[in-house]
Amino acid sequence: MTESLLTADGVTKVFGGVVANDNVTVAVPAGAIVGLIGPNGSGKTTLFNSIVGHHPIDAGSIRFAGREISRLRVAEIARLGMVRTFQQTRIYGKMTCVQNMQISVPHAREGLRTMFSRFPAEVTEKAEGLLEFVGLYAKRHLLAGDLSFGQQKLLEFAMALMNEPRLLLLDEPTAGINPTLINGLMDRLKRANAELGVTLFVIEHNMRVIMNLAQHVYCLAHGQLLAEGPPDEIRGDQRVIDAYLGAH
Ligand SMILES: Nc1ncnc2c1ncn2[C@@H]1O[C@H](COP(=O)(O)OP(=O)(O)O)[C@@H](O)[C@H]1O
Ligand SMILES: [Mg+2]
Repeated sequence: MTESLLTADGVTKVFGGVVANDNVTVAVPAGAIVGLIGPNGSGKTTLFNSIVGHHPIDAGSIRFAGREISRLRVAEIARLGMVRTFQQTRIYGKMTCVQNMQISVPHAREGLRTMFSRFPAEVTEKAEGLLEFVGLYAKRHLLAGDLSFGQQKLLEFAMALMNEPRLLLLDEPTAGINPTLINGLMDRLKRANAELGVTLFVIEHNMRVIMNLAQHVYCLAHGQLLAEGPPDEIRGDQRVIDAYLGAH
């Protein structure tokens, strides 16, 4: 059997007395779209933080593209081709969309002395191409802070694609977005997967979205893996239903 692009095996993460992830095992095959669901506080974001190297884990192993990464730092892991987005958007409101895109390429940023340094033409071209891809080309010279919240999410997604990730981890990409824009975003996520070859691992609260997007879904509850399987099975799984009902 070939190894998945990403494997977290028996990952445990404790904050003080809180076991945020308890022996969690997940696998994301290359080329797939995999979902991660679970009630608030079930440990989804913590798992992403562990995977991207934001904090050390207390037990377990995390492998990406054939190598152990659980002791690497965020920047080292990013260089291997793993990029994440955040639950709260992280854009620079006082910069234009194109400028936000330009500074999201790490090597461009490292070479920068000031915000006003010139970027290579190909960086700008790529930025505009990806803004077109997410439907923001007409707004490319607007300040990011003037975009609607949903458009800011699209911008953040485009910024993540600037790095040509092999694996993109998205933390609640549709949270706070209106239903029309959600459909557009879902379509873009699928196209990034199918056309740009980006493997996706997606935390999502919207069941309709996850059922539509993912081929395989993991469900966490109280830091533990509660269930996993194809979306149709997970939707009808009594343990999953109870976990969500119990959380309200
Ligand atoms: N940096 C941290 N310090 C202390 N506790 C944390 C930290 N991050 C998360 N937690 C705790 O870990 C648990 C899981 O949180 P989180 O992973 O954010 O859940 P989710 O993303 O599923 O809503 C919660 O009890 C939360 O309070
Ligand atoms: Mg979270």
